[in-house]
Amino acid sequence: MKKILVTGAVGQIGSELTSILRQKYGNTNVIASDIRMPADDTIRDSGPFESMDCLDPHHITRVMQIHKVDTIYHLAAILSAVGESKPTLAWQVNVNGLYNMLEAARQYHCAIFVPSSIGAFGASTPLDNTPQDTIQRPDTMYGVTKVSGELLCDYYHKRFDLDTRGLRFPGLISHETEPGGGTTDYAVEIFYEAIRHKKYTCYLREDSSLDMMYMPDAIRAMIKLMEADPDGLIHRNAFNVTAMSFTPEQLAHEIRKHIPEFTIDYSVDPIRQAIADTWPNYMDDSAARKEWGWQPKYDLAKMTKDMIQELSQKLQRDGMNQRSRAGDSEVPK
Ligand code: NAD
Ligand code: SER
Repeated sequence: MKKILVTGAVGQIGSELTSILRQKYGNTNVIASDIRMPADDTIRDSGPFESMDCLDPHHITRVMQIHKVDTIYHLAAILSAVGESKPTLAWQVNVNGLYNMLEAARQYHCAIFVPSSIGAFGASTPLDNTPQDTIQRPDTMYGVTKVSGELLCDYYHKRFDLDTRGLRFPGLISHETEPGGGTTDYAVEIFYEAIRHKKYTCYLREDSSLDMMYMPDAIRAMIKLMEADPDGLIHRNAFNVTAMSFTPEQLAHEIRKHIPEFTIDYSVDPIRQAIADTWPNYMDDSAARKEWGWQPKYDLAKMTKDMIQELSQKLQRDGMNQRSRAGDSEVPK
């Protein structure tokens, strides 16, 4: 049985990945870790949780030894928009933190999954049908760290025969945990605002086309790649994967099919717009399809329908919980 360590387990991807991995491999075999504590108790109650900083090699070693880890999903990172406001932190966490995890994986003979991003491309990369192997000259700190990460993972595989694998994720859309400060976050925020207020002010231009994916597809992709026969893998790290590509205007149009009163307007944030302008309109993910059978299940229509249904239920539950907590405190003692 595997012993899996998830770093960044409180984040947008980690929180959902941890619970799927626990269902698949058993609660006690999946160790969640993060530098911050989870807002609710689900992750801590359903299995082991370690409060671990990826910048602390001694702590990483202790966790590896205590839990006898053999597989790592390394998700601890600083995303693109936060990375532009805190470039030093982004470099430290995304590069030095990754280096520490790769060293731990080498020392304890672990397989390691490391996500890259559409942010690893830049203005000189072809924006349409972006090839798997192409020019990568990003001009954001996030992008610089992501290319460095791809190269480091390739190096550890080639030099130390470490089992490194990874995907270049597009923007991820999900309803469990809110995103951590990226350029594609609008595609999640828009659903919260559409359900709560029937209107949304978008920080990207209406015609900004970007690759996106719904979280269930992203989780399936990670696990499928980690379980793939290594003999079939030519690329290993940084596979392009995508499921859909749309602009804010196209997403708003799709939401209106479910919430007809919904309106969108625009107040462009120059920093995030400049980042989005250098990212692919849509990637060519044929290498992932060919080498390990990647196939998304959710397109724009299916994702939008499911997102509205799931998020409406979640917001209703959260509202009920808040009302019942407020009610509790009013009970006279
Ligand atoms: P997130 O911001 O939601 O979560 C990252 C987690 O890392 C946070 O919980 C944070 O507390 C933790 N963290 C930060 N510094 C840490 C440290 N020093 N030690 C330990 N933990 C630390 O991010 P996410 O969206 O879940 O992204 C996970 C990975 O996937 C990142 O590498 C990101 O670049 C990549 N990715 C995400 C998306 C997306 O749309 N979410 C798209 C492409 C790639
Ligand atoms: N969603 C991520 C970001 O915008 C893409 O890597 O930072």
